[in-house]
Amino acid sequence: MQSRAATGRNRSKRPKRLSIDPDVSAQQTPDVDMSASLADIRRAVTNDIYDIYMLNCASFVEAWSVMALGMWQERGDTLDVWYSHDGRLAAYYLGQDVLDEVHIMQIAVAPEFRLSGLGRRLMQYEIERKRAAGMASMHLEVRASNRAAQKLYTSLGFETVGRRNAYYAAFDNHPAEDAILMSFNL
Ligand SMILES: CC(C)(COP(=O)(O)OP(=O)(O)OC[C@H]1O[C@@H](n2cnc3c(N)ncnc32)[C@H](O)[C@@H]1OP(=O)(O)O)[C@@H](O)C(=O)NCCC(=O)NCCS
Repeated sequence: MQSRAATGRNRSKRPKRLSIDPDVSAQQTPDVDMSASLADIRRAVTNDIYDIYMLNCASFVEAWSVMALGMWQERGDTLDVWYSHDGRLAAYYLGQDVLDEVHIMQIAVAPEFRLSGLGRRLMQYEIERKRAAGMASMHLEVRASNRAAQKLYTSLGFETVGRRNAYYAAFDNHPAEDAILMSFNL
């Protein structure tokens, strides 16, 4: 992943769970307030870029600029957004197809929606779409310290295939960090 993924968050505080369509209702738990649905996943449009930028800033050590994010959207790469019914950007996914390989650039879930199953559902959505499109594999890089993301990917079937030393350069108070390379055969 070209992303500079942020360190995983503490799981002690579980946020409200978003609503999901009946086909994924098995993911629900009874103690949560449902407010978004899988049908809300859609391609990003220009007007979404600022929301994506804000979530990007809240999620990654080294955020991308509005211009950079807008460029990915204009290029027609896979930039999908998932809004809640009350209009908050709950999650987004950015990936690039290169021949039959999908390169996952970024996935982020808004802090207030984390640990609700959204990251998993969004990844499953993208996996199913890319499988149906005939893509062969998915690849990503993730910070060595980002255990949350690594657990998510591993639970989906991604395997660690390598490590790049100091792939993430030192930034602000964050030292340089290795990237873990992960892949998934579709
Ligand atoms: C990584 C991220 C996308 C996960 O999204 P999420 O919606 O909170 O994840 P989910 O609720 O779908 O959790 C799915 C699985 O991921 C793992 N996981 C997610 N967050 C975790 C955490 N903080 N600690 C440990 N495991 C975690 C668990 O295995 C979980 O499955 P389980 O609940 O059955 O144990 C989210 O934390 C995020 O946006 N982080 C900042 C941006 C980022 O790091 N992106 C990835 C870049 S590589």
